[in-house]
Amino acid sequence: MNNSKEDKYIEKIRELKKERKTIILAHNYQRPEIQDIADLVGDSLDLSRKAAATDAEVIVFCGVHFMAESAAILSPEKTVLLPVREAGCQLADMITVQELRKKKEENPQAAVVCYVNSSAEVKAESDICCTSANGIGVVNSLKENRILFVPDGHLGRYLASKTKKEFIFWKGFCPTHYNLLSEDILRAKEEHPQAKVLVHPECRLSVIDLADEALSTNGILEYVKKSEAKEFIIGTEMGIIHRLKKENPNKKFYPASENLICPSMKLITLKEIAQSLEEMRYKIEIPEEIRKRAKKSLNRMLAV
Ligand code: 13P
Repeated sequence: MNNSKEDKYIEKIRELKKERKTIILAHNYQRPEIQDIADLVGDSLDLSRKAAATDAEVIVFCGVHFMAESAAILSPEKTVLLPVREAGCQLADMITVQELRKKKEENPQAAVVCYVNSSAEVKAESDICCTSANGIGVVNSLKENRILFVPDGHLGRYLASKTKKEFIFWKGFCPTHYNLLSEDILRAKEEHPQAKVLVHPECRLSVIDLADEALSTNGILEYVKKSEAKEFIIGTEMGIIHRLKKENPNKKFYPASENLICPSMKLITLKEIAQSLEEMRYKIEIPEEIRKRAKKSLNRMLAV
């Protein structure tokens, strides 16, 4: 997009934002220009907390559907807009509530922990949610020894390796993180032998095993800020590199692979945000009975 067009959209967004008492939240994977106009950029946990705490009347959620849905679950009195309706999460779509109910019947003793990358219906059917930032704490907070963890089998395996609980895994995965292979990490390490390797816990265990740390997106940002190291290989969606560079101008960042792009996260543009605010679209709507039960799972997580 040329600069004058971009400026026009930014101006429009600023105008409409004031008029409509709006806050713009953006995930760390969003396009750089979206991160730059957002009121808060963060990871899933950070954004859901912020969404619950804000006194804005409208939240424009620049992320994927489950994130905007979490904001709407926690704040029914606010209008939550997802600028692009098609911005879904393939991982969240890898389980239906019917499938979860069946699995629960087969495992009546297990506590159901659902990754926040899931639909409101799945959250409603779970005992507690978790994000990649608090998964270990959430699992350890439960009295049950058996954990039915949905829908991310890779995050599940990572949490199982860090806790003493017995896990039942689901077969879901994030296609973006799944495509990152141990060969990619080995190649990147060879090219940048001084660099620390930071990956997301949605990666395969074989990738995590080669990394210095597996962290949520905010965890990666915090780690880099505090680290004495000057170079970092980043094993998560590349959108985070914009913020890493902005906050650490003297450090160097290398994506662990050129394929680390989440297509859904890239659907939102400045034009879409301006249109979203102008037309107040697309409103997240959740049936009240589901919302209330999903809120319990999210609140239980936020209390941990
Ligand atoms: P974070 O909670 O670490 O930001 O991760 C969200 C996500 O969807 C990763 O793919």
